[in-house]
Amino acid sequence: MFDIRLTTPDLELRHLREADLGSLAAIFPEDVELDPSSTTYDGLDPTRNRRVGVYQTYWRGRAGWRPESWALSFGVFLDGQLVGYQGLEGDDFSTLRTVDSSSFLAGAVRGRGLGKQMRAAVLTLAFGPLGARFAITSAWSDNHASLGVSRAIGYVDNGVTADRRDDVAGEMAHLRLTRERWTASGWPEQVTVTGVEECMAFFGLG
Ligand SMILES: CC(C)(COP(=O)(O)OP(=O)(O)OC[C@H]1O[C@@H](n2cnc3c(N)ncnc32)[C@H](O)[C@@H]1OP(=O)(O)O)[C@@H](O)C(=O)NCCC(=O)NCCS
Repeated sequence: MFDIRLTTPDLELRHLREADLGSLAAIFPEDVELDPSSTTYDGLDPTRNRRVGVYQTYWRGRAGWRPESWALSFGVFLDGQLVGYQGLEGDDFSTLRTVDSSSFLAGAVRGRGLGKQMRAAVLTLAFGPLGARFAITSAWSDNHASLGVSRAIGYVDNGVTADRRDDVAGEMAHLRLTRERWTASGWPEQVTVTGVEECMAFFGLG
């Protein structure tokens, strides 16, 4: 997966390496809410705990990789600088043909359409060479930027659930994008995907 390159009008995405993790942890935004199941260490301050989580999430994706259940971790580069993260996951993928995604951008570069471009980049990989049929995503109902990215690309509402948010129940919104809506969105023509052929076996598709 290290050979994969996803190119959008303004961004290049490539799979993160161990050597990138320090830079990624340094730009991990304070407003990204951690999964309640994230490991925390009593002896570390909140910032260091959050940065450790960046490493552990990456290692979990690499170590737990199986052809039927995989997690890609892309760095998002703007003019050669790492400005964000874009994940793409498939679980029981050869049967379900469904991908999920997660992302963050450094605060300084938000609000200018890059969130849409990086999501579109991994969706072009998913619906293109990987042959996905659906993409799903979830965000707190008050995460307007994340929901805005999804809706602008063509996802539609797919229900809400109550999920633990700190010590109370929060409302998690779920959205879903079909292959048909993706194809009609105009995004596939704006993204170039290269370097996938050599790693198709890792997705069980070789
Ligand atoms: C989610 C995130 C990656 C989006 O990136 P971004 O660059 O801000 O988003 P874009 O500029 O591409 O905007 C995408 C759409 O959302 C809308 N949007 C963005 N921020 C918004 C906000 N705060 N309120 C309402 N709409 C917003 C935009 O108007 C745009 O819609 P449009 O094309 O219909 O106008 C970024 O805000 C972020 O890193 N947030 C913190 C991490 C996070 O919440 N990740 C998702 C966890 S599920």
